[in-house]
Amino acid sequence: MDSCLDRFIKNFKKIKIGKKTILDWSYHLATKDSKAFEVQHTGTLFKLDLLYSYLDFPYLHIMSRQRQKYNTKLIFLDLYSGNGLNKIKSESSLFLCGSSLLALLCSHNQTIKKQYPCYFDYTVMIDNDKDSITTLYDRCDALTKDLKISNKLKLSNKFETDAQLLTIRGDVINQDFISQLCLWLDSIWQDKIHIMMFVDPGSPGRLSMQTLTNLLTYPGDLIILLHQELFVEMVLKKRYNTDTIQRMLGMNKTDAESLFNKSKAELSRLYVKRFVDTIQGVKIDRLSSGSNYRNVVSSIKIRTDKQTYTLLFATRTTGGKHHETWQKIFSDYNTCIEKLSDAGKTMIGVLKGSQQRVDMY
Ligand SMILES: C[S@@+](CC[C@H](N)C(=O)[O-])C[C@H]1O[C@@H](n2cnc3c(N)ncnc32)[C@H](O)[C@@H]1O
Repeated sequence: MDSCLDRFIKNFKKIKIGKKTILDWSYHLATKDSKAFEVQHTGTLFKLDLLYSYLDFPYLHIMSRQRQKYNTKLIFLDLYSGNGLNKIKSESSLFLCGSSLLALLCSHNQTIKKQYPCYFDYTVMIDNDKDSITTLYDRCDALTKDLKISNKLKLSNKFETDAQLLTIRGDVINQDFISQLCLWLDSIWQDKIHIMMFVDPGSPGRLSMQTLTNLLTYPGDLIILLHQELFVEMVLKKRYNTDTIQRMLGMNKTDAESLFNKSKAELSRLYVKRFVDTIQGVKIDRLSSGSNYRNVVSSIKIRTDKQTYTLLFATRTTGGKHHETWQKIFSDYNTCIEKLSDAGKTMIGVLKGSQQRVDMY
């Protein structure tokens, strides 16, 4: 448990990436422009730590080597990217870099450590809020210049085929957009591609199961945040109608209607299970070895004082030598973060330096 706490603190507060820790970068960016996605609970802390930790090890560790061997194109796909900063408002508030910037910082750290390129070939950041996208663009620009990598990574608001590209776009994620995204993915898919998908829609109604299903046909890992309690509340208050439920969960009308008669616990279970079943059930295209399905799905409960969220991690067994060892290391970390999320406010204090100990241990 202590080593997990150490890793959590190390990720945000100890490792220097281009002379600054992740917390330093967060405050550095916030000083220039304090626009941030505001959240009233501490769940964001653990969601982002798990993303960073997974990218750090095992994801980039394995995939950057695989790329050298198989000419794999690595893509970080951040749907619902936000503006690059979060402001977690608990008893005291904390700025923390968002998903896209964490991916950029993590890949830079790996590149320096390993002395070979660990950047994603393509990073795609999408948000429907145009102001957020303008801010995110400026933050990526500032960060790549500060890290002295602006000559290595090109910023664009277009889907282009040149590699080492950061594409930052204001789009609504819907079926039209996904068709456009898939055309672009097909155009850059020569030998192999591998997509690290981070899907963080903010609320259940923002994502349709069809969108997810389309993306799941591409090779890659998935991290998705589910707001099961919000879903339950919206169904029980009849704020979602049958059509909305059908679209969100990819269900027929009869099954969608039946949800209105279920209990809270049943609805919550069913919502998460629907995602797990879909993720495990979609066949991945054009693979030559290992499982054709994302047969490994871990479910992590992130608890806050208001709600519980579920973070799903999905990957597949590749048959690689160290696959099981890596999965075990990550799954132990998940279990520990689940527990740490109970002490969210304390962890904010620890990161801000106002709290030295975590009393729950
Ligand atoms: C929870 S926030 C994302 C936070 C981000 N992942 C981070 O780490 O900072 C959800 C984002 O989704 C965006 N959003 C909501 N509905 C959307 C849609 N249909 N298409 C694209 N973006 C959407 C919102 O503008 C918001 O910035």
